[in-house]
Amino acid sequence: MGVVVVAAGSGTRLGAERPKAFVELSGMTLLEHALRGVVATAGVDEVIVVVPADLVAGAEAVAAPMTGPTGPTLQVVPGGAERTDSVAAGLAALSGAVRIVLVHDAARCLTPVVVFERVLEALDGGAAGAVPGVPVVDTIKVIDGEGLVTGTPSRDSLRAVQTPQGFRREVLEQAHACAVAATDDAALVEALGHPVLVVEGDHRSLKITTPEDLERAERLLRLTAG
Ligand code: CTP
Ligand code: MG
Repeated sequence: MGVVVVAAGSGTRLGAERPKAFVELSGMTLLEHALRGVVATAGVDEVIVVVPADLVAGAEAVAAPMTGPTGPTLQVVPGGAERTDSVAAGLAALSGAVRIVLVHDAARCLTPVVVFERVLEALDGGAAGAVPGVPVVDTIKVIDGEGLVTGTPSRDSLRAVQTPQGFRREVLEQAHACAVAATDDAALVEALGHPVLVVEGDHRSLKITTPEDLERAERLLRLTAG
């Protein structure tokens, strides 16, 4: 099983002086936090870390010692302009032996191991794709181009999805080859008509997007540290 950790974004909304994955949270970069969860997950054979081209060497120096002698192999590769391009770069770096792929945002750096396990369990159970999701707290409206409401889906039928998103490798590669615009990998796979299962996500999998999110993550870490 392989994990592609996408960390090649610039972090415009966070507005730090370095790319988001290299910003520190309680003394460790977001990328290091994210990799801690990845390498602690059983069954990971290969990890591909996708970073901005000028940070490949720096990321290698930080990430390589994290896998340990019996841990997964690790490779750092340069990403692309959009997240989809970075995922594609990661997929291309996996060895031929990998059959199951998890795609994980470095920005969801506090994702607990149990979430990785739930996704893998669903794939073991035969799902082509599996993504973690949490119930939405807001009422969601569907609108048209003028802003007029065209529908109010029942909250029971809605989930806000997170990463890691897991797929059978050939399904994800096929989806990427179609080059449909989407904000997550599952949407590409769904567009091809493959069933994607939502498993239970976790509030600690929040995506660090803004400075407020970074503060929230710091509070979460303080809580878990007791
Ligand atoms: N990502 C990536 N390559 C890109 C864009 C995003 O690998 N070209 C990764 C980010 O590093 C992040 C994840 O995809 O881990 C989710 O993206 P997002 O939260 O949007 O991060 P950024 O694109 O860096 O942030 P922003 O949109 O605020 O610039
Ligand atoms: Mg982005």
